[in-house]
Amino acid sequence: MKYRFFASSPPHVEDILADELRQFGAQDIKVTRSGISFYGPLEAAYRGCLWSRVGNRIIMTINTFPVSSPEELYDHGRLVDWKEHMSVDNTFRIDTVVTGNPPYGYKYAALKLKDAVCDYFREKTRGKRPDVQRITPDISIFLLINGTEVEIGIDLSGESLHRRGYREQNVYAPLKENVAAAMLYRAGWPRIAASGGSFCDPMCGSGTLLIEAAWMAGDCAPGLGRKTYGFHQWKGHSKQVWDKLLAEAEERKREGTKKLTHFYGSDHNRSAIQSAIQNIQSASLRSFIIVKKSDLRDLPKAPILSPIPGLIAVNPPYGKRLEPEKEINDLYRNMGRIFKEHFPGWRAAVLAGSESLAKSIGLRATKVNKLNNGKIKCFLACFDITDDNRFVE
Ligand SMILES: C[S@@+](CC[C@H](N)C(=O)[O-])C[C@H]1O[C@@H](n2cnc3c(N)ncnc32)[C@H](O)[C@@H]1O
Repeated sequence: MKYRFFASSPPHVEDILADELRQFGAQDIKVTRSGISFYGPLEAAYRGCLWSRVGNRIIMTINTFPVSSPEELYDHGRLVDWKEHMSVDNTFRIDTVVTGNPPYGYKYAALKLKDAVCDYFREKTRGKRPDVQRITPDISIFLLINGTEVEIGIDLSGESLHRRGYREQNVYAPLKENVAAAMLYRAGWPRIAASGGSFCDPMCGSGTLLIEAAWMAGDCAPGLGRKTYGFHQWKGHSKQVWDKLLAEAEERKREGTKKLTHFYGSDHNRSAIQSAIQNIQSASLRSFIIVKKSDLRDLPKAPILSPIPGLIAVNPPYGKRLEPEKEINDLYRNMGRIFKEHFPGWRAAVLAGSESLAKSIGLRATKVNKLNNGKIKCFLACFDITDDNRFVE
């Protein structure tokens, strides 16, 4: 059976999300703002939940319709056969996303949809209604209001998919897991890893890039460590399909991690290194990744770290909070010099806080892509460190 779905991602990575979902069996993909819509079997959406590295949420669409008032939304909400999706004993929550300019208040609209769900069950059960629960509800109902168009769906992911479950300790400014993965895709890491290349992050913070890079290279499903998904309590859940995908992912991980190359991370902050070690441990990657406390200036030469050229990926500070402008410019320039002197033949990818900081690196970028880190509009600059790419002070 074919269903309609919507998958969301951070801005500027919708094309990567579409490529991922296409591989998982999605058809008729349409790219929209911060996401894609697609058709496919339930298995395609489950694969998305388990394997998408850049996605945030996967929603199964129940219905779409034009609505000009919250009362009309209530009427449409009453027509949904909610008992196909949940029981009166399930807790639920309504998550609202608004785009365009709806001619009514979205909070009131969400309230009316909640009333519709409760009144539906009251009628069916002689007065009983499901309870609303804001945190970890059994069922998350998704309400997308796009001007006068409305979409209602069930959130199959539950918690956002970027929460892989390995982040035990946060340090200052960690990168979201799916933004780190987007950075690695744009830098061409899957191809470099497949040809045996190594990986280095000399400002690794809590280790997000190292973990995402190792999981990508080791064919490890990013959702394998998650305890719960939105579909676990959903009435349409197919345990048979999900268990098959879990078994397949375990097998791919067993095989994939046999081929892992060298992964090296460092940071000058001791507590960042401690948190990286903890996160790497909970991602079951302790025996594959080396992390050390050291300053960028003391970064060893590439051949000492690894015999095969690969990717050096960095998410440096942006200088937006503490560091004075000159200091931050010097840091980016030092990075460029070290890449050039220590990493010939490698590729480098830097998530810079601005276009001018990307230029401070002093090397010619092969490409620059926009990539937001939360609310910060960043620029991902990729460099091929070849002989003819001269470092300009
Ligand atoms: C934006 S954070 C990186 C966060 C990381 N990607 C994560 O997900 O946790 C920048 C990191 O650069 C480190 N750093 C800044 N200057 C450094 C230097 N000169 N040498 C080594 N590390 C440095 C900081 O300690 C911080 O952990």
